[in-house]
Amino acid sequence: MLSPVRFEQDTLVLLDQRRLPGETVWVNCATWQEVRHAVRRMVVRGAPAIGVAAAFGMALAARAGDRLDDAARGLKDARPTAVNLSWAVNRMLARALRLDANIQVEEPSGTLYEALVAEATAIAAEDLAMCKAIGAAGAALLPRGATVMTHCNAGALATAGYGTALGVVRAAHEAGKGVRVIACETRPLLQGARLTAWELQEDGIPVTLITDNMAAHVMKTQRVQAVVVGADRIARNGDAANKIGTYGLSVLARHHGIPFYVAAPASTVDLSMPAGDAIVIEERDADEVRMMAGVRVAPEDVDVLNPAFDVTPHQHITALVFDAGIVYPPFEESLRAIGSSKA
Ligand code: MRU
Repeated sequence: MLSPVRFEQDTLVLLDQRRLPGETVWVNCATWQEVRHAVRRMVVRGAPAIGVAAAFGMALAARAGDRLDDAARGLKDARPTAVNLSWAVNRMLARALRLDANIQVEEPSGTLYEALVAEATAIAAEDLAMCKAIGAAGAALLPRGATVMTHCNAGALATAGYGTALGVVRAAHEAGKGVRVIACETRPLLQGARLTAWELQEDGIPVTLITDNMAAHVMKTQRVQAVVVGADRIARNGDAANKIGTYGLSVLARHHGIPFYVAAPASTVDLSMPAGDAIVIEERDADEVRMMAGVRVAPEDVDVLNPAFDVTPHQHITALVFDAGIVYPPFEESLRAIGSSKA
């Protein structure tokens, strides 16, 4: 099972996703500062995967005797949009506090570091289990022989393994449904072209790559039975932040009468946000747009916008697919139950 995050010999080992598909390079992080750097630079990316990485970052802070509140602040700041990151860090802080309170009574032999490694390992294992459950629930939505459009990479590479949107595809494939995927390339960083196309090919799942500006034409001229994407944060009303371009696809899907599904674990629900307009959208370096694969494709000083995410309004979402099952509109009541059931 492909997983982009491992923890071995007191070190977080990350598959460097900037180098895929050309090279398979693993990066070692021995301190929380190195984990922060790796999240910022997108060595590891995808909402659940950065949550898992940050959880191990907190354990590494304990090992070094660093202040956990400093590490928590630094890790949470690394990328602002995916709530899984702050959720995982807060869960690690809560574990440390519990240990502090119970150290005399319940856990006399465990060190803080050991307890935090165990907690981070549990977060990773739960994420994998949630992805499999998302897959099982979502596969039922896809008809036999379906063509599924997706955006960015919400696959094994973006999670502890198996994936959310691609978990749905993977489960349908495993059930022999004969699905195929149309992957949008996902400018500026090409997660669709570099990661989704690679990951699906590795698993023998049929995939066709298109550039982002082909999506409308492909929806109009080919039979696309569903759009399935992941999410970085889902607000209380069901508005969902995901990779820039997702909102556009939702408008196109609505126009063409194609169901639009968002697949995510419970850790992506943020009940503190009433609606998507409150979600902070990460703005990244202008050179990501001016350049492509290290080559300058625009004037050096041209003004650029580079929001990394956008928000799909809940009215465009046919259903949300969680590990706990499929949720149909109106979303608010079901999301309250799912959001407060988070481990
Ligand atoms: O900037 P990225 O590559 O971290 O963005 C990733 C996405 O937008 C994914 O679709 C999202 O995190 C869900 S991953 C299961």
